[in-house]
Amino acid sequence: MTKPPYPPEPFRIKVTEAIRLIPPEARETALKEAGYNLFLMKAEDMFIDLLTDSGTGAMSSEQWAALMRGDESYAGARSFHRLKNAVEDVFGFKHFAPTHQGRAAENILAACLVKPGQWVPSNMHFDTTDANIRARQGRPANLVIDEASDPENRHPFKGNMDIAKLKAFIAKYGREQIPLGMITVTNNAGGGQPVSMENLKAVAQVYRENGIPFFIDSARYAENAYFIKQREPGYENKSVKEIAREMYSLADGMTMSAKKDAIVNIGGLICMNDDTLFQNVKNELILREGFPTYGGLAGRDLDAMAVGLYEGLDEDYLRYRLGQTAYLASRLNENGIPTIQPTGGHGVYVNAGAIFPHIPNYEFPAQALAVELYREGGIRGVEIGSVMFACLDPEDNTWHYPALELLRLAIPRRTYTQSHLDYVADCLVAIKARADKVKGYRFTYAPELLRHFTARFEPL
Ligand SMILES: Cc1ncc(COP(=O)(O)O)c(C=O)c1O
Repeated sequence: MTKPPYPPEPFRIKVTEAIRLIPPEARETALKEAGYNLFLMKAEDMFIDLLTDSGTGAMSSEQWAALMRGDESYAGARSFHRLKNAVEDVFGFKHFAPTHQGRAAENILAACLVKPGQWVPSNMHFDTTDANIRARQGRPANLVIDEASDPENRHPFKGNMDIAKLKAFIAKYGREQIPLGMITVTNNAGGGQPVSMENLKAVAQVYRENGIPFFIDSARYAENAYFIKQREPGYENKSVKEIAREMYSLADGMTMSAKKDAIVNIGGLICMNDDTLFQNVKNELILREGFPTYGGLAGRDLDAMAVGLYEGLDEDYLRYRLGQTAYLASRLNENGIPTIQPTGGHGVYVNAGAIFPHIPNYEFPAQALAVELYREGGIRGVEIGSVMFACLDPEDNTWHYPALELLRLAIPRRTYTQSHLDYVADCLVAIKARADKVKGYRFTYAPELLRHFTARFEPL
């Protein structure tokens, strides 16, 4: 058979969890009660929940079996050593400790390295990394290539760091003011776009020449490695695991939210080569997370992660995983619904501004699309547009709006089938057919910071 245009799931289903589409009137009431903010709605009222791919994946039978092997000893548990073996095998760093999730690893790293006024460059920091650097009075800087902000540009590695910008940045602020340099793989804040090996090598070299420790934010390391295999000449015959090893051989350490590519519901990692830094990290861990052999997790969580680290690298799984996002995007694109190109790893970013050209950014077109998608089919996505990012500039007292009004549909791992994705696409096509009748929203309540989580709206 020729290659099918859809990715057949490389698993069969042993356990199911019921979901239900509540009737249209009940959806309308639920929307109203939540002030038209999907973050404030009940998960049980969702038919398909694409709010995030973080911690929402389905564990395998092997992971559930591993949970039963969990050793709950306080110190030196067998579970820790099994995870340690897996982490060493996949990433190759000298030291490692578990944390309860990615932001805990970021907090500890920032606590150990960042002093007030110092800078931390990256391609783009994820918001928790950004906030953890700021919480130490540090200053995060995003130096991604310019192609990343053009939704039509089909650059294969839109997560790449701009090397000229990085060199100029170090020259401007001085290496003494840069306690560490980072890069995020894949670049979540920029649409789940990958970083090439060539770029990782160039970034590592610049950091090394300047004596700046290089840490990789690794939430989606396996998806990034698979994109390298697919798109970067010279890597097509290497295994994804070999590619991952090569990526990490370039760095001095990493932080990771295991809730993504290690396919667990909770967990994180911090790794490094430096002995003194690791001693300090362990002291911080004991203060904030727990003893360094469990890091705020149960022994069973460590075992599920140890298995998940390998399952995330499985190439049949990755072919299906990246095939799912590509499939959903292609179904939308062939129906005239624009999405960020090329499709990223963990989600599809729909250009809501292009679907609702009659709704100005201050009336939140992507929020309108998020509400409409729930109204149409009980589907939850997340607005990534003016609700999340528009801000009042204190200098000139004017509102600054983001370049794009996006609705992100994040795909949980191994959770939804192809017919679920077809259903999502069909609902969006139905909305597009009545797009000119959809109206915008205004705030009835909005906090000053991170307002998308708790804001309330009313329809115009
Ligand atoms: C790139 C990246 N880094 C860090 C984090 C934070 O991880 P956690 O949610 O486990 O704290 C996330 C979570 O979405 C992420 O996508």
